[in-house]
Amino acid sequence: MLSLNSMTNIFPHKHLLSSSQLSRSDILTITSRANEFISNGISAAHRYDLLRGKTVVSAFFEGSTRTKLSFELAARRLGADVLSFTASASSLSKGESLIDTLNTIDAMGVDIWLVRHSHSGAVELMSNFSHCAFLNAGDGQHQHPTQGLLDILTMLQHFGELDGKNICIVGDILHSRVARSTATLLQTLGANVGFLAPGTLLPHDYSHWNITLLKTIDAAVEWADGLNILRIQRERMEGGLLPSLEEYSQFYGVKMIHLQSKPNLLIMHPGPVNYGVEIDHDVAHATQSLIQKQVTNGVAIRMAVMALLAENFDRK
Ligand code: CP
Repeated sequence: MLSLNSMTNIFPHKHLLSSSQLSRSDILTITSRANEFISNGISAAHRYDLLRGKTVVSAFFEGSTRTKLSFELAARRLGADVLSFTASASSLSKGESLIDTLNTIDAMGVDIWLVRHSHSGAVELMSNFSHCAFLNAGDGQHQHPTQGLLDILTMLQHFGELDGKNICIVGDILHSRVARSTATLLQTLGANVGFLAPGTLLPHDYSHWNITLLKTIDAAVEWADGLNILRIQRERMEGGLLPSLEEYSQFYGVKMIHLQSKPNLLIMHPGPVNYGVEIDHDVAHATQSLIQKQVTNGVAIRMAVMALLAENFDRK
């Protein structure tokens, strides 16, 4: 069983619900713990006992590949028992309420909930009805803090530090919990955040976000050290927000010509990707693209966050 050297960091939070609750020190505590896990090893050959004796329930009320599997893998690597709850195969289909579902699973003896839900605020609501720690795995258009943290870890590994770096978030910012989480963390670490989106896909209150608004993809490429490119969320669009995907791709899609004009431009995307819409296949697989690295870092970040929360349990 492996152990880590830095067991003295204090993480003053019971839950992780939003990026806005994290100070600069919290963010750096999480990313340095994640880097320690990466240095020690996060493969199946590397097992830790930091969550031994704890039960984690992974409750996804909305689809996920990366977040669900990496959270479950992270919990197992830390030695937890993992319950995997799938909403579509549960008694929700018989009319059981969200809170009755929560109380029922809590009664089995759970310590940590990992929750994704299509409604903004649903994870915080659940946390008010339970004694457990809650990790927000994405709620509606609100927050996805571990995605933001893995984006930050990936950028810190690449740039060393983020103070003064220009990072442009491109695409469907209106519907994006990733944009909200990552932008807040970037600003907390001193980076400059840019937005590039059609007017219909900008949040209505963007002027309060202290961002640089870029008008064209060429201007964004020139301004930015890195692009965080977002998926067009067709499932959250009510119609009329975009004339067509072809037109979106023409004016906002990231193509090889952009990478050729700035070869050291960092490319990131939280996934899943719509190739040929927000990003061309060749860009997503270019050497400047850290998309696969983001996925790998997701396991380490989720290990770090759960290990830090568990240290708080043990202090009680
Ligand atoms: N980035 C992200 O949240 O992906 P999943 O929906 O696959 O979890």
